[in-house]
Order: sequence, then C-alpha cells, then structure tokens
Amino acid sequence: SETASLTGKKVLITAGPTYEKIDPVRFIGNYSSGKMGFALAQTCAERGAKVTLIAGPVSLTISHPNIERIDVESAEEMYQAASTHFANNDIAILCAAVADFTPETKADQKLKRGKDDLVLNLKPTRDIAASLGTVKRDNQLLVGFALETNNEEENALSKLKRKNFDMIVLNSLRTPQAGFQYNTNQITIIDKNGDKTEYSLKDKKEVANDIVNVIEQKL
Ligand code: C5P
Repeated sequence: SETASLTGKKVLITAGPTYEKIDPVRFIGNYSSGKMGFALAQTCAERGAKVTLIAGPVSLTISHPNIERIDVESAEEMYQAASTHFANNDIAILCAAVADFTPETKADQKLKRGKDDLVLNLKPTRDIAASLGTVKRDNQLLVGFALETNNEEENALSKLKRKNFDMIVLNSLRTPQAGFQYNTNQITIIDKNGDKTEYSLKDKKEVANDIVNVIEQKL
C-alpha cells in the first residue's frame, strides 16, 4: 500500500558504481550493484516524492511515473549531473560508490600488451558529497553512506562532519550478506547530533523503508 508521506518533496539519489575509462575498452570500476540506491528511489517514489535517480553503470531497471533516471558513467559525469540538479531538490541521498581516482589521461586507442610494466597515473576525482555539502541550504537534507572496514562508527561520524551530512548510513563490511551485490544489508544510522540507531540484517527494500522513515522524521 502506498502512503503519500513525501508528496510535494523532491529527492535526488545517486546510485551504483562509476567507471573510469583507461582506453576505449577498459575501465576502473567497483563492485557496487546499485541495488540499495534503486530500492531507495522506488520507496521515495511510492511515498509520493519526485525522484531524480542518477545511476552509474548498473544492470537494473526501474519504472515509476515519479522517477526520472539519468544514466552516467564516470565520477565526473555523476558530479555534473548531481551538481546541476541538487538546488532543485529537498533531499539528496548519496548512495553511489564513486571512484576516488581516475586515469590522468585516457588512451584514444586500445593499449597494447608489451614486455614492460604498464604504469597508470591516477588523479583524484571530485568529491560529489563534499561539494553538495558546501552549497547545502538550511531547508535541504543531505544523506550520505559509509562503507568502513575498521573504526566504523568513528570514521562514519568524521565523514558526516567533513561532508556536512545531516545523517550517514553505515554499512558494515564485517556483517556477512551485507553490502555490495547482496540483496540484504545491515546498517547503522548516525545523525549529526551523534544519535545512533542500529538495524538488523534485512532485505534492501526493508532497509530503504527504515532509511526513508528516519529521513521523514527530520523534515
Ligand atoms: O569518503 P567516502 O567515499 O567513504 O564517502 C562516502 C560517501 O560520499 C557516500 O555517500 C558517497 O556516495 C559519497 N561520495 C561522493 N563522491 C565521491 C566520493 C564519495 O559523493 N567522489
């Protein structure tokens, strides 16, 4: 059953990995499936929000009249799309696993095998989250994600502060069946006051419901 609790709200969501081109046939990517971000988009749309879903390369489909999907490939393309649309949204949920580095130069032709080592120079990408955090208005809510392997909560909290998030969703890599590729996830939500709620391992659709419930409380 659909409740219209987000009617009149606009939500920007980034989802999936990014691909950073090395040459015409190769890229640097990561294992993000996009499932968590797509589940969030579906939940927000079903609750009446207008959703702009900026998706990296994923093999997922989504169909709801409230969802406008923008497909991008690289971190730079995702940055351009997110910064173009952010001002027009009430909420941004940054779920994408954005590459932190991209090749300094992209070869026009396929790189050839040789006897020598191949050295790739990588330069840092722009941090979409931090950039939106600096232009965020008081009437906008910014929600980030964190995937940590050690000092999880401490790192998540410092990330929340550094990027000016209102809340951060921590995925634990220590929990089996949680995170990348799985259909289930185990999260802890920490808000900017340091309030912390830990959830059990659930289907990503149910996790999306939990996250959106917390967002609604903060509106
Ligand atoms: O610093 P870290 O990558 O761990 O931060 C994760 C959070 O920042 C996620 O919400 C992710 O979507 C966002 N992020 C981003 N742009 C980047 C790197 C991370 O929006 N270049």
